[in-house]
Amino acid sequence: MKYKSLPPFAPVLLESMRAIGYDAAAAVADLIDNSITAKATRVRIRFDPGLPRAMALLDDGHGMDEEELARAMRHGSRNPNDVRPEDDLGRFGLGLKTASMSQCRRLTVVTRKDGRTHGMMWDLDLVEREGDWVAGVLDPGDIELVPFVSYLLEQAHGTLVVWEKLDRLAAGDAGDGSILSERIRRVEEHLALVFHRHLTGRPPRLVIELNDYPVEPLDPFLEDEGAMAGPKERILVEGQRVFLRAFTLPHISRLTRAQIEKAGGEAGLRRQQGFYVYRNQRLIVWGTWFRLFRQEELTKLTRVRVDVPNALDHLWSLDIKKSAAFPPAVIRDRLRSLVPTMVRPSRTIHEYRGRVTGTGRVQPVWTRIEDRDGVRYEVDLNHPVVATLRLSAEDGHLSEIDNVLRAISASLPVEAIYNDRANDRVGLRKEADDGEAVAAHLEELARQMLSAFADRPAERERLLAGLGNFEPFALYPSLVEQIQKRLS
Ligand SMILES: Nc1ncnc2c1ncn2[C@@H]1O[C@H](COP(=O)(O)OP(=O)(O)OP(=O)(O)O)[C@@H](O)[C@H]1O
Ligand SMILES: [Mg+2]
Repeated sequence: MKYKSLPPFAPVLLESMRAIGYDAAAAVADLIDNSITAKATRVRIRFDPGLPRAMALLDDGHGMDEEELARAMRHGSRNPNDVRPEDDLGRFGLGLKTASMSQCRRLTVVTRKDGRTHGMMWDLDLVEREGDWVAGVLDPGDIELVPFVSYLLEQAHGTLVVWEKLDRLAAGDAGDGSILSERIRRVEEHLALVFHRHLTGRPPRLVIELNDYPVEPLDPFLEDEGAMAGPKERILVEGQRVFLRAFTLPHISRLTRAQIEKAGGEAGLRRQQGFYVYRNQRLIVWGTWFRLFRQEELTKLTRVRVDVPNALDHLWSLDIKKSAAFPPAVIRDRLRSLVPTMVRPSRTIHEYRGRVTGTGRVQPVWTRIEDRDGVRYEVDLNHPVVATLRLSAEDGHLSEIDNVLRAISASLPVEAIYNDRANDRVGLRKEADDGEAVAAHLEELARQMLSAFADRPAERERLLAGLGNFEPFALYPSLVEQIQKRLS
């Protein structure tokens, strides 16, 4: 076999890579990842609102020397398989270039380290003209002309990233910067959320300023505002620690307008329940249960924080934009079994607030729950028949059982029952039909329940004695006595 080198054709590949799927917010976040990795404490984003020509991002990180800058500008500057320091937010060696080029046609980086300043530039039009991977190396004269460079030159070290020819970021702008400003507002919301843990603290580890206005952190867990934090759980995966913690937001009636907005708005409260996955404290994906659970009304106040280290990137299908990740099977299995207990606080708040009305002394299988959204019926997980089943379920099966029960609760055919009832075709229970089949079924059910307490005789006795107090046994008083005698 002979071999032939087939390098990509630069203009075409660069043009195609623009479509990798970044929006402005994800692109700016990618630059900030780099600043954080460079130990920056302050990131300033600047643009001229009246003039949509350039946007700059300046940090006070350690900066780069000439060689480091050249490496940084190369596409694929690092091998994705390299082991990275724990606090490194990068992975692919692409972000600086691909994020920038998704928004503009010219990327200039000027950086200062040890009192020296260097600058380089990628310009898609230049690459097209040259038909090759040709980047510009800036002379001191060129550097002086870079927009916003004076801010960098006042600092001892740091990096300035400038986007010009904003064909995407300012697309549709009439030249007054109004569209650019609107897009940057959305960028601000995104940064407030994805970097909220860096932006929180006194003093915060990081300050991000947008034209001199600091970006305020947006904590989706309302941790300082009355949310209930569950215990910290730890999962070990390939020797690496993944931390989980569930938060239950306060009930919506106890939240102020501002807090509701912060939690994603009224619709967002429900939509944004789920996992919030952080990679080195930076939010990657949020508001999803990874298809492990339904977005179900009762857990809408639950948000589960998941902290993963970058050493597990290979398992999480992390994408280049750092805006998607999916947990591996080992973690999914653990989440599936852990979360039902973790979301319990959210369910309790709702049930507590709802008024539960049964039929007096007898405990029904179905509970009637009345709250501000109306009335609904649910299988009562605390009902003895259900509770003993859950008790005897093995760990892995509990969430399956709960899922089935929830499905049953959610699909109660209310309309059909209502119609049939109105036409006297249902609910006319004859005086307890205590035929043999019913008797055999009830006795078997009782036996099954009691076996959950095989090793706890006192509780077994109590359950047997109270058999007549809950459905379905309560409907057959004459049978209960027989069953009690036989099983005692
Ligand atoms: N603001 C900055 N300050 C200092 N060094 C930087 C800065 N931005 C980029 N670099 C250097 O440039 C390199 C390339 O950055 P780039 O974002 O393209 O890739 P990455 O961060 O390594 O990985 P990823 O593609 O996952 O973001 C970085 O590894 C870093 O060494
Ligand atoms: Mg990067």
